[in-house]
Amino acid sequence: MMKPEGSQIEKSLFERSAGLLEALGLCRASEILEVRPLAGGVASDIAAVRFGARTVCVKFALPKLRVAADWYAPVSRGRSEFNWLLVARAIVPEATPELFGWSDEHGGFAMEFLSGPDVHVWKAALLAGISDGREATGVARVLGSVHRASVQAAFDPSPFHNSGDFDALRLEPYLRFTAERHPDLASDLIEMADALKLANKVLVHGDVSPKNILMRDGGPVLLDAECATMGDPCFDVAFCLNHLILKSVHLPRSRDRLLAAFLKFWEAYSAHVCWEDPSELETRTARLLPMLLLARVDGKSPVEYLTRDEQAFVRGLARSLIVQRVDRHAELVRRISLEARS
Ligand SMILES: Nc1ncnc2c1ncn2[C@@H]1O[C@H](COP(=O)(O)OP(=O)(O)O)[C@@H](O)[C@H]1O
Ligand SMILES: [Mg+2]
Repeated sequence: MMKPEGSQIEKSLFERSAGLLEALGLCRASEILEVRPLAGGVASDIAAVRFGARTVCVKFALPKLRVAADWYAPVSRGRSEFNWLLVARAIVPEATPELFGWSDEHGGFAMEFLSGPDVHVWKAALLAGISDGREATGVARVLGSVHRASVQAAFDPSPFHNSGDFDALRLEPYLRFTAERHPDLASDLIEMADALKLANKVLVHGDVSPKNILMRDGGPVLLDAECATMGDPCFDVAFCLNHLILKSVHLPRSRDRLLAAFLKFWEAYSAHVCWEDPSELETRTARLLPMLLLARVDGKSPVEYLTRDEQAFVRGLARSLIVQRVDRHAELVRRISLEARS
């Protein structure tokens, strides 16, 4: 999209972007050469803005998400995202975009725009069957580092008391909504949602999904931290591992590699767990995983790439794992591998 001659929506994105960049002192509106909306986002207006020889990325949270079911969310989550990125940048700078500032007035922020031949979205590499276990362990290390730093005395949790937003954005659309569709499992799902809402252990990112992770030179850059909150680390771990399982169902030829990556992820992540017995965290993660698996077929935000048969398989697998309360990752992987083959 070029300068504001397009539709009202395009025009307003141009104007918002220009207002933000002016407020942050990055450029004047008259210097903007192009505002190009980025694909893939359902929760925000996000664009690459080119001025002079530079391109930056601007992001504004939307009040209503672009998904099939009605899903409203507070726009204050934009500020939560910026706060998470600030914290993570101090811990793992190479795994975050450079930040150029937040504006309350414009309700958005500007960051480095990552592009080029060495940058790809992790989800695309996973679906193409070309992601290796190193990418998964890279994500695990970043996540473990942020979680671990957030339990240190020097960490200030005050910007992250966001359990209300977290409930609206994660627990309601995934667990509580799915509970309504599976009344026989509702008590397990609701008990889990209530426990996650109360938890206050570490700084949780809240959306560690492969589509929110760019790989740059083989190392991860985490984006899209709108759901950031103090919470239970099992949420981030299970949320991410869930995507590896879903893809292992969808891609039989990559299955063994993806399930191996699952175990490597856990191994790399658990080395950072200093705030509790890792086996207790493993148990909570393993219990949450099949619930998130079920939520990705019957919740408010189903994954788009599963066929009907694959959805039915995931539903059956998730339901049986929830009922049987599997609590070790090796056992989860064994079961998935076995049932997917039969
Ligand atoms: N800083 C960035 N540089 C390059 N691409 C980005 C950047 N931030 C986001 N993107 C791209 O835009 C997509 C949507 O961004 P995201 O922050 O996930 O928005 P949403 O909250 O709408 O999901 C991402 O999947 C990624 O491909
Ligand atoms: Mg996203």
